[in-house]
Amino acid sequence: MFSGTEIGIDLGTANILVYSKNKGVILNEPSVVAINTETKRVLAFGTDAKNMIGKTPGKIVAIRPLRDGVIADYDITTEMLKLIMKRIGKQLGFAVRKPSVVVCTPSGATSVERRAIQDAVKFAGAKTVHLIEEPVAAAIGADLPVDEPVANVIVDIGGGTTEVAIISYGGVVTCNTLRIGGDKMDEDIIQYVRKNYNLLIGERTAEQLKMEIGYALVDHEGISMDVRGRDLVSGLPKTVSIHSKEIQGAIRESLLSILESIRATLENCPAELSGDIVDRGVILTGGGSMLNGIQEWLSKEIIVPVHLAPSPLESVAIGTGRSLQFINRLQTVAK
Ligand SMILES: Nc1ncnc2c1ncn2[C@@H]1O[C@H](COP(=O)(O)OP(=O)(O)OP(=O)(O)O)[C@@H](O)[C@H]1O
Ligand SMILES: [Mg+2]
Repeated sequence: MFSGTEIGIDLGTANILVYSKNKGVILNEPSVVAINTETKRVLAFGTDAKNMIGKTPGKIVAIRPLRDGVIADYDITTEMLKLIMKRIGKQLGFAVRKPSVVVCTPSGATSVERRAIQDAVKFAGAKTVHLIEEPVAAAIGADLPVDEPVANVIVDIGGGTTEVAIISYGGVVTCNTLRIGGDKMDEDIIQYVRKNYNLLIGERTAEQLKMEIGYALVDHEGISMDVRGRDLVSGLPKTVSIHSKEIQGAIRESLLSILESIRATLENCPAELSGDIVDRGVILTGGGSMLNGIQEWLSKEIIVPVHLAPSPLESVAIGTGRSLQFINRLQTVAK
């Protein structure tokens, strides 16, 4: 038995990651659970559950208990967190009892939403739970010098939210949370295919289209991809070929909202910090930052350099984990 374990959790809408100080990222799974609706028991978590989405028999449903970066289903989230604690115990080679946890919350979360996250993690067995703002964690994880008096701009495009924040001296100077991210783009694609082809495709197919032939608003050589779904007229399975320019059109509005949010944040930047931004540019992170052409498109639109974080899917988890040492240091000072 071991206590005193310290972990950082990125409780994302699309992916959950756990970071331990000594071992790095020890868990990285999609934020999906499969439950039996009759017994309410959680049957599977992560990749196993994601593979069941849209394919399960009536009694079993695969659901995502987090939406827009916050808890949508409290009971299932706590069940999922208990499974996570068990799984990381296996990873670390000892049962994790009462770990100290740092968990991130979107900076736009309400106090009720923050409280729910804190309670859920505590209920799953944590000794102490500290919250950290997601963009601050992302910036720490992307190796930005957050505790220096220079402005760092971080744009985290996740599944549920896009967060744009200007960080200086370890705190958020100004930020914007937009409840639009990769999930909304998947939804845009589903709607487009439904309207134009009378074809119903699943979330996973839409996500594949986005990742493989989705482009930000840049010129590119077009490519096509075949997808399967259910014909809404005949009810039968059908395959259609979809072109990348169509996907680009489908996700256009969502991309423009993200751009607008970045512009609005930059406009709110204190004049003293503007120079830093022109010099240092903007750091992109989160899974959405891997969309084809997004770096090129954004830098053309906002006219400052745009860089991609070293490991966009892991920045927040690494940052929450690393922030443990800051929090401990602060607590020692407080005592
Ligand atoms: N290569 C890619 N191209 C485009 N989108 C991608 C790519 N890889 C991952 N994504 C998208 O990134 C999103 C997941 O990103 P991430 O793991 O950062 O989200 P999250 O942290 O779980 O969500 P949030 O921070 O909003 O709670 C998904 O919508 C996924 O489809
Ligand atoms: Mg995230």
